[in-house]
Amino acid sequence: MTAQLNARGDVAVVVPAAGAGLRLGPGGPKALRLLDGEPLLVHTVRRLAAAPSVRMIVIAAPPADVEAVHSLLSPVAPVTVVAGGAERQESVAAALAVVPDEVAIVLVHDAARCLTPPSVVERVAAAVRAGADAVIPVLPVVDTIKEVAPDDTVLGTVDRSVLRAVQTPQGFRASVLRAAHAAAADAHTDDAGAVEKLGIPVHCVPGSDLALKITRPIDLALATHLLTLPDPDA
Ligand code: C5P
Repeated sequence: MTAQLNARGDVAVVVPAAGAGLRLGPGGPKALRLLDGEPLLVHTVRRLAAAPSVRMIVIAAPPADVEAVHSLLSPVAPVTVVAGGAERQESVAAALAVVPDEVAIVLVHDAARCLTPPSVVERVAAAVRAGADAVIPVLPVVDTIKEVAPDDTVLGTVDRSVLRAVQTPQGFRASVLRAAHAAAADAHTDDAGAVEKLGIPVHCVPGSDLALKITRPIDLALATHLLTLPDPDA
């Protein structure tokens, strides 16, 4: 039985949250690290639940923490929690497996992008609703990007005007995401990558600076400061 949030919503959000977060330094699973006294996952789910299109939220948690994550999130929003896998792709597949067939739009959102505003969720969902099979939120690349050889010699400078940094939530027509996951034998770092391999066009919409992924210790420091800024959606 899957928990329902908003009966009028047409979107299920699948949240892979089973990663160890080793790049963040020692500590528990990344999604359960604290930001301003609350686990990252609480911040993430609170913002997802505030998006009117969202009908259900499915979390893939570390297998040992499924019950604890359910207890943690129940006061925040109705959620379904499943055991995640060893790779992000397996965690997404486990969560996708419990999304009912009648939900037409599925978003995949990293738990680690815990400050993503509800407006980004709505923007991605709206683009899928308008007809796109796959939608990703992106930002322009601000740094100069070089291709570098294993011996640290620069091979060339990439034209950054054609590059985009990709965030989540990534949105899909549910049948397209299921087909992409069924076909993906090799590991991919994002779900749109698996859709691209099927030859299906992926559409870009503007992302948000607030949708940064908490990966390194400096990201937690940055996020702590960002929490003190006014809500851009307010
Ligand atoms: O490690 P990375 O930051 O790329 O992970 C992205 C997201 O995927 C995180 O929210 C993490 O919890 C999740 N993940 C997962 N299962 C794994 C590995 C990562 O759900 N086995």
